[in-house]
Amino acid sequence: MSKLTEKIRYVGVNDLKKVIFEGMWPLPFGVSYNSYLVMDEKTALVDTVEADFAKEYLDNIRRELGDRKVDYLIVNHMEPDHSSLVALVRETWPDVRIVCNAKTVPMLKGYHGISDNLHVVKDGDSISLGESTLTFYLTPMVHWPETMVTYFNEESTLFSGDAFGTFGALQGGVSDSAGAARLYGCTDAAENTFASYRDEMRRYYSNIVGKFGQTVQAALKKLSGIRISRICSTHGPVWEVSVPEVVGYYDKLSRYEGDKGVCIVYASMYGNTARAAKALAAELDKRGVEYAIHNLCTENVSYAYRDVFKYDTLVAGSPTYNNDIFPPVMNFMYGVSARLVKNRRFAAFGSFTWAGASVRLLNEMAVKNGFELISDGLSFPQAYSPAKCDMSLLADKITGC
Ligand code: FEO
Repeated sequence: MSKLTEKIRYVGVNDLKKVIFEGMWPLPFGVSYNSYLVMDEKTALVDTVEADFAKEYLDNIRRELGDRKVDYLIVNHMEPDHSSLVALVRETWPDVRIVCNAKTVPMLKGYHGISDNLHVVKDGDSISLGESTLTFYLTPMVHWPETMVTYFNEESTLFSGDAFGTFGALQGGVSDSAGAARLYGCTDAAENTFASYRDEMRRYYSNIVGKFGQTVQAALKKLSGIRISRICSTHGPVWEVSVPEVVGYYDKLSRYEGDKGVCIVYASMYGNTARAAKALAAELDKRGVEYAIHNLCTENVSYAYRDVFKYDTLVAGSPTYNNDIFPPVMNFMYGVSARLVKNRRFAAFGSFTWAGASVRLLNEMAVKNGFELISDGLSFPQAYSPAKCDMSLLADKITGC
């Protein structure tokens, strides 16, 4: 399981205990923290793992190393799910030289008090481990300023940090080749393909990296000239079979390109806006339009962001609350704006009791985001009824009838 090639070993761990990632995002299938060991005349460890897994992590490394030592620790990314054990690695192998870039230096000092025995690299610099060459490419703001990737030239392998990563712990193997890696909870080996990870990859991307489409595009452009036959991300499977699909999907996500379909989000205090949302879903069903529907009062917003990145049309339903947008929908729309989502068609609907404001304010937010308003929106007083709020009109606008 741990031997990807003679020279590349997987030494990461699976986290099936944590239920919320970054204090915000649910982990129904867990998450993996991937770290890799490159073994030649010298050895290089690529990133570390989350602090809770110290013993398992050191055991994994020692099992591969035997009585050798770690010569280099490459820090592609300083977020603590990958850098928490940097100090432990230094304590264990005191001579280890930490390879990082200039943006990493103050973070290493601030998080771990480490400022010596650093090997600071610039874009395109390389180190030799013997017959193996590792080249570093800076990929700032994917999704922190210090992010970089490491390319193992002789094995066409990209250690990509968070890029191309996905939620979901690994079971079975760690690579998508030979039917090995399988999304945790997925029992059917036939489902063991990139397609089975796509939703969780999009959720990871939209939740965590989503704001940085432009810098992801810059990174993809920078890496487009190198041959990549294996991607070793810090989360999710090692991509071997699916490299073109994974890179293509990242390109699509970072261009904010949605598939034809509708993401309906709504929140409701007493069920009237909810009934309108469900009426719209029923209309879309009738017309064979693909859609997802999310109740922001009962679901973590993580899933709605996932589907905003999936579809080209966003429809938001909110009652008027304090002469404003109802807070769960406001929070959602704030997140959409913060992620700089582009190229979406938009419509709003919602109930009010004595004065409607939510639809107008949602439209204003959408226009600020550059979305195309496909309707003025449907705002209705007090109880929902099809006569007051005919969602077939909105379905007509969505389908262009
Ligand atoms: Fe998986 Fe940005 O840390």
